[in-house]
Amino acid sequence: MSDHWYKDAIFYEVYVRGFFDSNGDGRGDLPGLIAKLDYLVELGVDCIWLLPTYPSPRKDDGYDVSDFVGVHPEYGTLADFDRLIAEAHHRGLKVIGDLVLNHCSSEHPWFLSARSDPASPYRDYFVWSDDATQYKDARVIFSDTERSNWTYDAVSGRHYWHRFYAHQPDLNFDNPKVQDEMMGVADFWLRRGLDGFRCDAVPYLFEREGTSCESLPETHAFVKRLRAHIDANFTGRILIAEANQWPEDLVPYFDGEFQMAFHFPLMPRMFMALRQETKKPIVEILQRTPQIQDGCQWGLFLRNHDELTLEMVTDAERDYLYEEYAKDPQMRLNAGIRRRLSPLLGGSRRRVELLHGLLLSLPGSPFLYYGDELGMGDNVYLGDRDGVRTPMQWSSDVNAGFSRAEPAKLYSPVSMDAVYNYQSINVEVQNRSEASLLRWVRRMIRARKTTRAFGRGALAFVETENERVLAFVRTYEKEEVLVVANLSRFVQPASLAMGVHAGKRPREIVGEAVFPVLTERYFLSLGPHAFYWFRLETPT
Ligand code: GLC
Ligand code: CA
Repeated sequence: MSDHWYKDAIFYEVYVRGFFDSNGDGRGDLPGLIAKLDYLVELGVDCIWLLPTYPSPRKDDGYDVSDFVGVHPEYGTLADFDRLIAEAHHRGLKVIGDLVLNHCSSEHPWFLSARSDPASPYRDYFVWSDDATQYKDARVIFSDTERSNWTYDAVSGRHYWHRFYAHQPDLNFDNPKVQDEMMGVADFWLRRGLDGFRCDAVPYLFEREGTSCESLPETHAFVKRLRAHIDANFTGRILIAEANQWPEDLVPYFDGEFQMAFHFPLMPRMFMALRQETKKPIVEILQRTPQIQDGCQWGLFLRNHDELTLEMVTDAERDYLYEEYAKDPQMRLNAGIRRRLSPLLGGSRRRVELLHGLLLSLPGSPFLYYGDELGMGDNVYLGDRDGVRTPMQWSSDVNAGFSRAEPAKLYSPVSMDAVYNYQSINVEVQNRSEASLLRWVRRMIRARKTTRAFGRGALAFVETENERVLAFVRTYEKEEVLVVANLSRFVQPASLAMGVHAGKRPREIVGEAVFPVLTERYFLSLGPHAFYWFRLETPT
C-alpha cells in the first residue's frame, strides 16, 4: 500500500468491550478481537479503529483515561495489544487507536496529585480558577448532564475546567510539559506499531478569553508540532481529527496537521435528504465543502459509538430530524439521537442499502460501525450511549455467541428486541443466507475496491431534472464512475445531463451489465431508493 493508503481504505470502528469475549468474564477483550480478525478481513475492511482501551474508571466508557500508556485489565495486557497489532498486520489490516488528548480521568494520578497539593508538579497540568468566571463563551457539550464547564473541587478549594463530564478535567496545553507528555503518549503507541490515531475532541485543547475556545490558533500550532514529530520519526502513520465543525473551519486542520477529518456536517444531511426525498441537503453541503490538499481525505460515516450528533445543522433542521428520527424523548441525548442505523431507518433494507451506497461512493473514506453491517438494533432504555454499544451478534447461541459468561454477567444485555434480536440478526445466520445484509455489504465493499475513483476521484454533480435523484461523476486518472441514487420511496425518472461524457458506455459495477451508450440527455428510471454505480468506458 502507498503512503496514502488511507485514501483507499475501508475503516471499521471496533468497540473492543462489545466485540468478542475470549475468557468468559462477560466483556470483550483484545484476544477476542484477535480471534475475529478473519471476519473483518473477509468483510473487506482495511483498517480497524479501536475505541479507547486504556485503564479507566469507565465513567465515559474509556474516554476517561487514568493511564495513557497501559491497557485496561478487562481488555488484556500490553502483550495482547502487541499481539493484536502483529496479527492484524500479518493479515494486511492496519490498526489505529483513539488518542484522547484533551482530558484525562479525575482518577488519573496527575489529577489526584494536582488537586491535593498546591506544590505538586502536576498542579499546572490542569486549568484552575478561583471564581469560575472565565471562558463564558465556551458552550457546554454534554448539556444533558453538565451545567457548566467549571466544577468546584473541594480538595483544592478551586474550580477546574472540563469540556466534557466533570470527571474529565481538561489538560492544560498551555503548559509545555503537558504537550511533551502527550507527544510521548503518541510515541509510545506508534512505537508499538499502531498505524495512527483517531484524535478525540481536537478543537478544545486551548482556552482563550472572549472566544468559543474551539479551534484556536494555539490548538493548530500544537497539532502541527505533533504531526511534524510523527512524520520525522515514523512512516505511513495517520492522524484523523474528530472535530465537529463546519467544513470551512476544518480546512486549517488539513494544513500540515491531520491527513483526515470526519465530515460531521454531511452525516445528518444524508438522513435529511432521505427523509425529505431531496438531494438538496447533500448537494449544498458538498458544494460548501472546500477542496482539500492532495494527501488529505474526508472520513465519512453514517453512525458511530456516540449519539448521531445534530450540532452541525440549523435549529429548524434539528427539530425536523428529532421529529422524524427520534419521536420518543428516550432516543435523544445532548444535541443528538442515540440510535443505530437500522432502527433509525425503520428497519428498511432499501434505505440501509441506499445510505451505504452513498457512504461508499461520496468523496472520502468510509467508516463502518461494528454491527451495522448486520443491521443490528439498539436499546434506548440503556443509559447514556450504551444502547448503541451492545454485544456484537455472532450467532444464535447463548449471549449471541459473544461470550460464554452467565447472561447476567455480561457488561450489557444482548438485544432481545422483537425485530433486532440476536437469534435472527447475527453473523452466522447472515453468512448462511445469500440475501443477507452482511453479504450485500461485503459485495459492495468488493465492488468499491474495483476502482480507485471512489477513494481518490474528483466529484462533479450531474443535473437530473428531478430533485429526488442525485447523480455525480467521480474521476481519478483514467477511471470514471457515474453514481445515480433515488432518494425517494417511489420509482423516479431522471434525465441526466451527461455533457462531455456523451458517447461513453456505462457498465454497472456490481453486476457488470452494459447499458446503452450515454447521450447528452440520458434517460434512466430508478426503482424506490435504488442506486447504481456505473463505470464509464470509452467504446473502441
Ligand atoms: C468524543 C468521543 C465521546 C467521548 C468524548 C469525550 O466525542 O467520541 O465518546 O464521550 O469525546 O472524551
Ligand atoms: Ca473478557
